[in-house]
Amino acid sequence: MRKKIIAGNWKMNKLRGEAVELVKELVPLVEGIDAVDIVVCPVYVSLPAVYEIIKDTNIELGAQDCFWEDSGAYTGEISAPMLKDVGVKYVVIGHSERRQYFCETDEWVNKKTKAALKTGLTPIVCVGERLEEREAGKTIDVISGQLEGGFSGFEKAEIEKCVIAYEPVWAIGTGKTATPEQAQEVHSFIRGWLAEKFGKDVSEKIRIQYGGSVKPANAKSLLSQPDIDGALVGGASLKAQDFAEIVKAGL
Ligand code: PGA
Repeated sequence: MRKKIIAGNWKMNKLRGEAVELVKELVPLVEGIDAVDIVVCPVYVSLPAVYEIIKDTNIELGAQDCFWEDSGAYTGEISAPMLKDVGVKYVVIGHSERRQYFCETDEWVNKKTKAALKTGLTPIVCVGERLEEREAGKTIDVISGQLEGGFSGFEKAEIEKCVIAYEPVWAIGTGKTATPEQAQEVHSFIRGWLAEKFGKDVSEKIRIQYGGSVKPANAKSLLSQPDIDGALVGGASLKAQDFAEIVKAGL
């Protein structure tokens, strides 16, 4: 049985004080839940403040990106060891907003994922098709291309430490959720791809999250699909009550 993982991607939201308020509200709402992994991903500058609140709780800290070098002349970037240093355990890599607005490529995703693993962070590697790709019947081609590029040169021992997030771009922040069947179809394809490349044992271990307009009302039906092992939640993670309900839907 794979343990479900519910992660809140706060994106570029909340000032430090607001982030602290949000997580303070969340802590008692999910207290005692250990059958689901719970992660919050605030903006970089709020990581230390949020860590102070959650360090002795069942909530783990995640970041929204990292660079692949440890240090050096890379103005504006943050490395995996710097994240680890402030208490980060998970890092989202290759989110569609980074691919879209910051020109992230599969090659970058590959390097960042390797850097995260080398540092002992758990990467949450995002893949997903755009609306026009889905409408053109290219969903599976797009996903397999992102997987091939993102995990090129990976060993079993590396990939089995990753979490994968399937996030159809047309469902992110739009209120349009993939139906549980649509999501399951892609999740099952991803697991099949993993089995083919790395073996069935590895594919059965890896957790595949769904992301894209997950809310309390649809969480249970998505999370009850056989290959959906968690959720990467944007908008609804900014409300402690909603996020806590989604966490509970994973129990
Ligand atoms: P959403 O975002 O839940 O607001 O659709 C999901 C994500 O981008 O991770």
